[in-house]
Amino acid sequence: MKLLTLITLCAMTSAYKITQLKVPLYADPRRAAELSCHFIMDDYELHSVKLYRDLDEIFRYNPSQKPTIRLYNVTGVIVQGGECESQWCLVRVMPAPVATKAAYTSMPDKDPVINGAPKLVKPGDQIVLNCTSDYSLPPSDINWYINDDLQKAELWHHTELSAVQPGGLRASWRILSISVPSDVIGALRVRCEAVLTVEPPVIRETSAVMTLFSRTQLSKYMSNRALISFLRFL
Ligand SMILES: *[C@@H]1O[C@H](CO)[C@@H](O)[C@H](O)[C@H]1NC(C)=O
Ligand SMILES: *[C@@H]1O[C@H](CO)[C@@H](O)[C@H](O)[C@H]1NC(C)=O
Repeated sequence: MKLLTLITLCAMTSAYKITQLKVPLYADPRRAAELSCHFIMDDYELHSVKLYRDLDEIFRYNPSQKPTIRLYNVTGVIVQGGECESQWCLVRVMPAPVATKAAYTSMPDKDPVINGAPKLVKPGDQIVLNCTSDYSLPPSDINWYINDDLQKAELWHHTELSAVQPGGLRASWRILSISVPSDVIGALRVRCEAVLTVEPPVIRETSAVMTLFSRTQLSKYMSNRALISFLRFL
């Protein structure tokens, strides 16, 4: 959205109707952003198309000149290329990440990862889980759920951020400590959600299932042990 300030004007010097000025809602600082200006000429002859960042011209198309397309770098923006057809012009710009960081969004490429979840647990076990999100901009906020109940973030276990990567990207992680309750039967399911607070929000999630070491398993284990001892005894 803030990118709109990047190109404020798509100007043409003939009779014209601009039908659309396309600016990406979320641009990725790792890739060039494409901006396009669509127009209808009716019976008029196109004289020129110019694109501006604020008051600075970054692109000019003039079919009667050679070359027909001219690009101009301005502070904080590298103009990588441009092209025009009869009804549109397109320009690719690469923003300097530091200059425009807050206006750009990079989606996470992968689901979050849960570390520290044992396959088998028993009541009273103390478990420390660590959920790490992929790198993104803005960084993801992490939510933990135990059997679908949202776990409140504690003061000492809130979402922490990694160091900043090129382009302003950061990973985030959050710890969940659990004391395995005695009233759970079967399995304990934990889910970690990495939420990117953009509009609309982007959510990626991962779950882990820990099987409870139950009485029946215990008695089976015990009776096997007893059987083995018995066989040994023989
Ligand atoms: C803009 O800057 C880039 C990188 O510095 C350079 O490669 C390119 O030739 C420049 N373009 C113009 C039109 O000056
Ligand atoms: C959690 O994982 C992140 C990276 O995946 C790591 O930097 C951090 O030290 C871990 N935290 C704990 C308490 O293990």
